[in-house]
Amino acid sequence: MDNNLFLDAAFSKQTERPPVWMMRQAGRFMPQYWEIKNKYSFLEMCKTPEIAADVTMLPVDLLGIDAAILFSDILVTGEAMGGDLSFTQGVGPKFANPVRNEADIDALATDCLDKLQYVADAIKVIQQRLNGSIPLIGFAGAPFTVMSYLVEGGSSKDFKLTKLLIHNHPALAHKLLAKIAKVTTDYLNLQIESGVNALQLFDSWALALSWNDYQEFSHQYNQQIIAGLNRNNIPIISFCKGSSVFAPIMSEAKPDVISIDWNADLLNIKKALPAGIAVQGNLDPHILYADQPVIKAHIHKLFERMRGENGFIFNLGHGIMPDIPFDNVKYAIEVVKEFKY
Ligand code: CP3
Repeated sequence: MDNNLFLDAAFSKQTERPPVWMMRQAGRFMPQYWEIKNKYSFLEMCKTPEIAADVTMLPVDLLGIDAAILFSDILVTGEAMGGDLSFTQGVGPKFANPVRNEADIDALATDCLDKLQYVADAIKVIQQRLNGSIPLIGFAGAPFTVMSYLVEGGSSKDFKLTKLLIHNHPALAHKLLAKIAKVTTDYLNLQIESGVNALQLFDSWALALSWNDYQEFSHQYNQQIIAGLNRNNIPIISFCKGSSVFAPIMSEAKPDVISIDWNADLLNIKKALPAGIAVQGNLDPHILYADQPVIKAHIHKLFERMRGENGFIFNLGHGIMPDIPFDNVKYAIEVVKEFKY
């Protein structure tokens, strides 16, 4: 690998500066993304390896980040299991056949890797294009977060149906979570076999859960997935919104990196974690709407706080919003790359 900053930091080795990539770096804030998006639907883009590779490469070529992330979505596992998935502009993801009872759960497939072969193919095309320049991060959605979309039928503000399922019918929730966890483990191992250099598990909506419910309905499945990965030398990043609170539990699953939302002081979180677990984060993505001197000041403040710490990957606390100015994202990455410890 020409650029080892990301993998070194993920394995808590010393680096000359923090590596940088950003969640949703290949997305709608880029005019070049729209040039492709105007021609294809989102799922067509995900399922056509050459197009998925084109989009994956946009931030590599235009932003100069230190790691690429596969262009796909966390909901493709739910689709492979039998969910009728669509993405509509302005509406977001929808499952037309939401999971509402035991028969719906029983109908979901768990031997469905063949339906995700397009991801394996995309990874191979992307690795040819990257040609050893920077590492490629693969990913999947964590069972709780994927379950929430399957049950609600789409995005949700309060996760009412998902919470009713776990509280009134915990055995059914566990049956569903176990099925998703099995598919997710197989799917991530397929990504490893296909050549990714790192993996991130996205549990975006874990913050909806109480401490006890997080352990029972999210953490134990994430732990099972991480334990089931053929991870030789592939760092695993565990992300959730809510990690400021849940990081001590997340560390029990033994990820290499925990990605922290923007509520916490990153150094305090890191110091409380077992040695050898790196942290990723944790700029509030809204800072990227602000004036450039403000952006620089916030990044420098974070870097001064983390000075001397091995195992720090710079990222946002959550994904880039679609209307964040492209030039501000580019500027933030330049600020990181000019920084010297
Ligand atoms: O980070 C990257 O650039 C890689 C690609 C990626 C996408 N989604 C592309 C995408 C990744 C890693 C994801 C993960 C994802 N998808 C998550 C977890 C990360 C997070 O942000 O919390 C979640 C919760 C989803 C589900 C999902 N997919 C939502 C809520 C949406 C947006 C709906 C909307 O219209 O606001 C999507 C669609 C999606 N995924 C887009 C992209 C680029 C936009 C699709 C479009 O162009 O219409």
